[in-house]
Amino acid sequence: MAEEKKLFKVTIDNITIEVEPGTMVLNAARQIGGDVTPPAMCYYSKLQGSGGKCRTCLVEVAAGSTADPRPMPKLVASCRTAVMDGMVVKNITSEKVADARAGVVEFLLINHPLDCPICDQAGECHLQDLGYDHGKEGTRYEFKRRTFEKEDIGPYIQLHMTRCILCYRCTYVADQLTDKRVHGILDRGDHSEISTYISKAIDNDFSGNMIDVCPVGALTDKTFRFKNRVWFTKPVDAHRDCDKCCGKVTLWQRGEEVLRVTARKDEWGEVQSFDGKPGWICNTCRFDKKKTNDWVIEGLTNVNRHSVIAQNKYPGLITPKETIADVMGGRAPKLLMDIHDISDVNSVDISALPGPATSKTFTTVLKGKVS
Ligand code: SF4
Ligand code: FES
Repeated sequence: MAEEKKLFKVTIDNITIEVEPGTMVLNAARQIGGDVTPPAMCYYSKLQGSGGKCRTCLVEVAAGSTADPRPMPKLVASCRTAVMDGMVVKNITSEKVADARAGVVEFLLINHPLDCPICDQAGECHLQDLGYDHGKEGTRYEFKRRTFEKEDIGPYIQLHMTRCILCYRCTYVADQLTDKRVHGILDRGDHSEISTYISKAIDNDFSGNMIDVCPVGALTDKTFRFKNRVWFTKPVDAHRDCDKCCGKVTLWQRGEEVLRVTARKDEWGEVQSFDGKPGWICNTCRFDKKKTNDWVIEGLTNVNRHSVIAQNKYPGLITPKETIADVMGGRAPKLLMDIHDISDVNSVDISALPGPATSKTFTTVLKGKVS
């Protein structure tokens, strides 16, 4: 009979689970799920070697193990710390963690332009979520923020280095998914930046996955830029027979138009796995198949992440009951007043005009009224 594998018991925020030896604290917390799970801006379970760069996943280890129950002297990065049997970890139950995470967010935002109102990533940006959860109203930073010119890296991707938090995920994608990496982190310290060597184009069948792994809006899809706000789009799961990738994607539609194609994401913002393999998608599926009839639609995407894109349009949504008809003896609500009847200013029915209204529209109409 096969020998039974010994599991390690770990308690995170007072919830105890058993995990395999070698599991990182972050992954143990993901097995519990929900708020207990620390945020992760650089760790990405499908990218080897990722993690240990951003420090958003810091946790307090209140007891190291059953054998040595002393607390760890400093907060540790949960994506790089393996569980020990009997370990006790605090995340949301630790004041030290809350304080340190606020500090980490302040650091991540030191050079960030906070241009969420025009950033394509707004609504699904992990840094935006972190900012709301832990950010402060002001900054203590007194120096000039770093600025960079936008850079086209290849035909489909534009880099906004000002938004980058140097998580290294895109470089791991290039290393692990494409034939050869032509970009990386140049320079050190405050001068570090993502770039290609003399702006060499990133042109590879799987390069678009860099956009999906970027936790902020630093790598943007040039075919989607400024086309829409993500919360106005309707995400649907779809697939096609593809000879290069799994062909399983999310289509972001507005009406019948496909505005964007991405890999399918899980509740941690990572690409979902299919048959045990990460569901990376190729550039043909992502950038060239932008018609609904290129795809077999499976149905609405269930967005797991707590985010604005999860609002309004999902199956099982409970909407408040409309009561007016009940109290009006069955009559449906009606517009009680036509504003055009009682206001000179609103004498133009803008929605009935064939094109946009101009000052001429109003002077003509008002003149007609006065004379
Ligand atoms: S561009 Fe995006 S994925 Fe690449 S290092 Fe910067 S934040 Fe990370
Ligand atoms: S997720 Fe752990 S250090 Fe970034």
